[in-house]
Amino acid sequence: MQKKILIIDDDYALKVVMIKALRTSKINIKTAATISEGWYLLEKEEFDLVICDVVLPDGDGLELVKKLKKKFSHLEFIIISAQNNILTAIKADQLDVFEYITKPLDLNDLIISVDRSLKKKTEKNQNFKFEENLPMIGTSQVMQVVYKNIAKITKTNFSVLINGESGTGKELVAKTIHNFSDRSKEPFTAINMASLPENLIESELFGYEKGAFTGAEKKTLGFFEKSSGGTIFLDEIGDMPYDIQSRLLRVLQFGEFTRVGGRELIKTDVRIISATNKDLNSAISKNEFREDLYYRLNVINITLPALRERENDIISIAQHYLSLYSERKKQFDSSAINFLRGYSWPGNVRELENLLKRVSVLTSETIINSTILEDYIDYDKPNTYENNHDLTNKSEKENLRSYLDNFLKNFFKTLDSNDEKIGLHNKFMDEFERPLIVKTLNFCRGNQIKTSKILGINRNTLRTKIKKFNIPTKLGKK
Ligand SMILES: Nc1ncnc2c1ncn2[C@@H]1O[C@H](COP(=O)(O)OP(=O)(O)OP(=O)(O)O)[C@@H](O)[C@H]1O
Ligand SMILES: [Mg+2]
Repeated sequence: MQKKILIIDDDYALKVVMIKALRTSKINIKTAATISEGWYLLEKEEFDLVICDVVLPDGDGLELVKKLKKKFSHLEFIIISAQNNILTAIKADQLDVFEYITKPLDLNDLIISVDRSLKKKTEKNQNFKFEENLPMIGTSQVMQVVYKNIAKITKTNFSVLINGESGTGKELVAKTIHNFSDRSKEPFTAINMASLPENLIESELFGYEKGAFTGAEKKTLGFFEKSSGGTIFLDEIGDMPYDIQSRLLRVLQFGEFTRVGGRELIKTDVRIISATNKDLNSAISKNEFREDLYYRLNVINITLPALRERENDIISIAQHYLSLYSERKKQFDSSAINFLRGYSWPGNVRELENLLKRVSVLTSETIINSTILEDYIDYDKPNTYENNHDLTNKSEKENLRSYLDNFLKNFFKTLDSNDEKIGLHNKFMDEFERPLIVKTLNFCRGNQIKTSKILGINRNTLRTKIKKFNIPTKLGKK
């Protein structure tokens, strides 16, 4: 069925560009230049989606949307704005509009948002589950890069190395690449190097001949043989023992290997996707990981951003899992939405998914608020983010140092040597200390006791500093 879109914007040239980008036989587009013109058209005809600018000649587009939402509950909205300031973003957010896109307009963004909001509308009408069939959820800018890479890779046989913190979706990406490739009918085999005992890795991968070792009673095929034609996902590749790395290198170079205890060269055709949440470069410099293997594995690299870097996706992923795991329809209220957005998600998508599994199954409430989420979130679980990011970590420390070195070098270039009253030391200390405290407070979701512990300072000192830097106590709960 044809969908109808109304674009309300006074920028004529931009409207022409948008129409060109969006026009298909399935979409009928009308335009208006002012609020009153838009309102007139909406009264007269039925639309599915309104794309609306914020600053319009006869008023505020956000106010218009607020009124329209009350009057036409079936409409979806996309706000576009040149005023990409925090206030417009917050207002658009409070209005619960589907998307908020900033100018200059990225047409790809626009097309994706329109597509998604029209789909959402159909789903709303037909009571479908939210994006049930999408393998990966989220449309944030950082994930667009990932999606584009996946799309390109599926058509090739190149090896792929996926980096990313724990729980960011590395295995899901590997599976998605496999499922969309020509190998999709063949096996996808995931092997975790960290969880397999070292002496088993070799025989699991390459198989063994009868009598190769005690207990090898008959010839057994390994994954490289069993998965021929398919994809092998080598998880936690950084933990692969060094001598097995050489064997793997040979498979990648020549597509052949021998079984343990065997001499016969066996050909295999597998695609290798590997993943790690460690820094392989530092393993290479310590001679724990073969550099030549690294280059063979890392023909194409995909780096998955942490969930906290895809703020716009948190809610859609959360909604997806809430509806997936709940028997009855449940929904988040605005306090829950704020909580989900504000939390740091050290365990990434897996942590979010697990939280919603618990909430879906263990509460009978249909409206989920922040208190319920806080009750079920697992704050104390050890997490890689916190553990990996203390500054005893050498590469973090070096990054920070080289960043500061550069910064200071540039700073001194512009410093007036006659200005002796500048008070450089305090100035810089303050510059550094304020964001450090704000970020830590945010990370601890306002809990000052936890913040002072993580900062390693006394609670009163923290209080004094919060006052000194005028840090809004809204951040602070206790
Ligand atoms: N974009 C996404 N949309 C929906 N679900 C996702 C997304 N990314 C990850 N998930 C889900 O999150 C969970 C964790 O993902 P996955 O196992 O792929 O992470 P990982 O990076 O391999 O983690 P680890 O390093 O701990 O092995 C899975 O259940 C996966 O389906
Ligand atoms: Mg994994």
